[in-house]
Amino acid sequence: MISPLDQDFSQLNHFLTEMKPTKLFFLVDENTHEHCLPTLLTNLETELPFEIIEIEPGEEMKTIETATHLWEILAEFQADRKSLLINLGGGVITDMGGFVASTYKRGIRFINIPTTLLGICDASIGGKTGIDHGFLKNIVGTFALPERIFVYPNFLLTLPFTELRSGFAEMLKHGLIADETHWKDLISIYELSAENVAPHIEKSMKIKQDVVEKDFKERNIRKTLNFGHTVGHAVESLFMAGEKPIPHGEAVAIGMICETKLSELSGLISPETADEVMNGIRKFFPYVRIDDFKNEDLLKLMLNDKKNDGSTISFSLITEIGSCGYDIHCDTDNINTSLNFYKFELNK
Ligand SMILES: NC(=O)c1ccc[n+]([C@@H]2O[C@H](COP(=O)([O-])OP(=O)(O)OC[C@H]3O[C@@H](n4cnc5c(N)ncnc54)[C@H](O)[C@@H]3O)[C@@H](O)[C@H]2O)c1
Ligand SMILES: [Zn+2]
Repeated sequence: MISPLDQDFSQLNHFLTEMKPTKLFFLVDENTHEHCLPTLLTNLETELPFEIIEIEPGEEMKTIETATHLWEILAEFQADRKSLLINLGGGVITDMGGFVASTYKRGIRFINIPTTLLGICDASIGGKTGIDHGFLKNIVGTFALPERIFVYPNFLLTLPFTELRSGFAEMLKHGLIADETHWKDLISIYELSAENVAPHIEKSMKIKQDVVEKDFKERNIRKTLNFGHTVGHAVESLFMAGEKPIPHGEAVAIGMICETKLSELSGLISPETADEVMNGIRKFFPYVRIDDFKNEDLLKLMLNDKKNDGSTISFSLITEIGSCGYDIHCDTDNINTSLNFYKFELNK
């Protein structure tokens, strides 16, 4: 359940009073320890005992080694079935913390307090938890819902701009797949900043929440949240393999442009709609060159994506602004044309 945006922490305090956990465990990374935890602790009105667990920041920490370390700490500090884990951080902390909480002693309760825009509008919602292994992202995980999600947009004030923009890509996606008004509101933002984005957060969260409620286990409509991610994940993997990782949202922005072109080539949207979408995305996301990546390598990664069966690539594609289809199989020529369009036409 998502609490309405709440700056005065009263809902969190009320929640803790009602829940009466035996002990609190705050999971933070170095950055959220520095920038977010002091505010949270200052505003907590509780006598409950607590421990702070800090991990280093970054996707590299989303491993089984970190999970093992966290299980050990919980055991060492005698976390019991009535303890509460408070995940205070971005998607790495909420994915990791949710995974550890849902597996420790067969599951203890946890809440998410996301501190990145991506965490707020996407990762903290929907009950997917997980860790990476090798190059395989989120290869091990659980479906486990937090007891609550508490959102304090003021935490975004210390977030680096590239991280803010990364989360903004997912907000744009929410508009494109489900709500034209949300899309229009977002693309009319003059300058991307925490202050300018904050009024649109609640709507974006609600779009994701509504989709997830209809299809928790991603059997049908939840797949629409993958719009931009088939190409996006492939691009992200190649940047990562080349040791020049790009933020997830930047890869998704590239993916959304390619997949919008693909939607046009597949006859699902008009060229005018495709232009509107691409111009909207490009207002915020400068062109990133991907012409060093071969189409065949990108296609190979798309085929191996965990959502596909290895013989066909399945896309979620917009059918108009605010509406999206899923399980769409596209012509390989059209996929190549859309990648080439991004590589060679768009930067002219
Ligand atoms: N479970 C899901 O449904 C879901 C959905 C989307 C993404 N994800 C996962 O989310 C992860 C990415 O999340 P992310 O982009 O939030 O990354 P992240 O958690 O690594 O945070 C990005 C950076 O911002 C720092 N940071 C966080 N909050 C801050 C603040 N308020 N001020 C200053 N710095 C701050 C972090 O320390 C980190 O360095 C990926 O692992 C991805 O797989 C999960
Ligand atoms: Zn994403």
